[in-house]
Amino acid sequence: MKALEGVRILDMTHVQSGPTCTQLLAWFGADVLKVERPGVGDATRGQLQDIPDVDSLYFTMLNHNKRSITLNTKSDKGKEIFTKLIEQCDVMVENFAPGALDRMGFSWERIQEINPRMIYASVKGFGPGAYADCKVYENVAQCAGGSASTTGMLGEVPLVTGAQIGDSGTGLHLALGIVTALYHREKSGRGQRVECAMQDGVLNLCRVKLRDQQRLQHGPLREYSQFGEGIDFGEAAPRAGNDSGGGQPGRILKCKGWETDPDAYTYFITQAAVWGNVCDVIGKPDWKEDPGFATPEARLPHLNEVFGAIEDWTMTKTKFEVMEICNKVNIPVGPILSMKEIAEDESLRKTGTVVEVDHPERGPYLSVGNPIKLSDSPSDVERSPLLGEHTDEILKDVVGMSDEEIISAKEEGAV
Ligand code: COA
Repeated sequence: MKALEGVRILDMTHVQSGPTCTQLLAWFGADVLKVERPGVGDATRGQLQDIPDVDSLYFTMLNHNKRSITLNTKSDKGKEIFTKLIEQCDVMVENFAPGALDRMGFSWERIQEINPRMIYASVKGFGPGAYADCKVYENVAQCAGGSASTTGMLGEVPLVTGAQIGDSGTGLHLALGIVTALYHREKSGRGQRVECAMQDGVLNLCRVKLRDQQRLQHGPLREYSQFGEGIDFGEAAPRAGNDSGGGQPGRILKCKGWETDPDAYTYFITQAAVWGNVCDVIGKPDWKEDPGFATPEARLPHLNEVFGAIEDWTMTKTKFEVMEICNKVNIPVGPILSMKEIAEDESLRKTGTVVEVDHPERGPYLSVGNPIKLSDSPSDVERSPLLGEHTDEILKDVVGMSDEEIISAKEEGAV
């Protein structure tokens, strides 16, 4: 039995943040009913299509293990059916623009009237305040949540990251909120509202930067490369390039082949506890006793020299050779893996983190499976549903409609 078996989710999500959340819940065994507009569906079905008229990878990779029902929740019949679905479900998840559910006639107060045990979970761009009404996408959240101003090279433009910390990150936060509310409902008997703003989710992931903002009041951030380079700090936590975010200095360094391979790099951390091993590996044993290099504090002002010497060594090895040599002596390093290398990685396939899924219209494709592994509730990745694929069965089994009622709802354009 899967961990969330028996939990039914009314999934009103679209694009990325909400679908990430409900996909996770589906992997844990919840019955996720994805409600989509008849004839239209989640906009991502048609976005970035690689094969004409076939659900995009954007959609298929975010909507595994769900059932799809089409329903016009703005029509009278649609509202009637939607009300029944609210009665029958444990959780409703949505990430529409602010106020969209209220405009449909389903405010939180109304939802509680229909089903007091309902957990109502939302993603919005911003929490209550000046920007509460704004529509928000990933990069807006990265910028407003403190990620962009602290990402990139010093003196250059702010950068957004490839990791979808605004969308998928907030979806993860929301999933935890939902499971927590489900646990609380066991004791209270009541549902509750779960809200997660994308700005807040990004900021939560950037908390070390708010840490540094406050440390700045007490002096320069000595582990940042700009300290050793003699560049003054301004009033705000600066962009730190590839400096390690923690107390152990680290950088991205060139490896053999970097001239032609854009990913021939390694991340290299000069962890204090293994400094002697670093010195031996790079052929600088004298640095172990040299007062200019022997302690972490002594090294901070000349990290460029330290990493320059390490890079002279890493450039003679491939990124995998660096991994092989350093791991043996406990030096933390990581090869910069391209998406091609990740797609072909045998161990990720074995653990189900990278999975091949078959789809009736597009054929086989690769996806990311559930990154959270439960020993008693393994996740099987099932393909995403076609638009409205499960409308009839959901109307029959969950809503309790007869064949005649379903035909009539279809004639009215409600489903
Ligand atoms: N039946 C009838 N109408 C439906 C429907 C259904 N099954 N499903 C959706 N709709 C309607 C909504 O009620 C809304 O109508 P309204 O504007 O008249 O109230 C409309 O479709 C579109 O919703 P909206 O959310 O405004 O879509 P959008 O494409 O304009 O905006 C976002 C997209 C993502 C910017 C916006 O939804 C948003 O800001 N969401 C919150 C933050 C978020 O999650 N962002 C990240 C997305 S990855």
